[in-house]
Amino acid sequence: MPRRAITPGTFDPITNGHLDIICRAASMMDEVIVAVAASAGKNPLFTLEERTTLVRQATAHIPNVSVEPFSNLLVEFAQQRQAHVIVKGLRAITDFEYEFQMNALNHQLDYDLETTFIMSPPEFMYLSSSIVRELASLHADFEQFVPACVVQALTAKFAN
Ligand code: PNS
Repeated sequence: MPRRAITPGTFDPITNGHLDIICRAASMMDEVIVAVAASAGKNPLFTLEERTTLVRQATAHIPNVSVEPFSNLLVEFAQQRQAHVIVKGLRAITDFEYEFQMNALNHQLDYDLETTFIMSPPEFMYLSSSIVRELASLHADFEQFVPACVVQALTAKFAN
């Protein structure tokens, strides 16, 4: 059985911090599926299709990574793809409470599904999609925080 992991997220949009976690997950696993959540309740800036395309473009250079949108429960999606590990990034202690809750819930829903965490390196500890969106909306510099395809997409979103 290949070691197949899922790295889930809203990716609105994907940042260099996400990309770091995906690359490191790919180096430890046989296959990584980046699962782009519909997250309709979060009212994303980018559509699910746009977010999926951007993640595909940003990860195209990593051979064992594929990208798929999903709109059901994460545990169901993992079961459908026969993945037994969820890999998530942890930035600061502020992430812990939410991730602790999600981990407990997912474990309750499926005992065979493991969640493992990769710590963000210091240079990405403060980085989030919401910070990048805010910088872009205020026409401040954000290029250093995101892959090139996202620079283009965000610039186009906030062009006026
Ligand atoms: O990047 P995010 O927004 O922090 O990612 C959160 C995500 C998408 C991993 C989480 O909301 C999720 O797993 N969504 C799928 C639906 C689900 O399984 N929710 C948990 C039970 S309510």
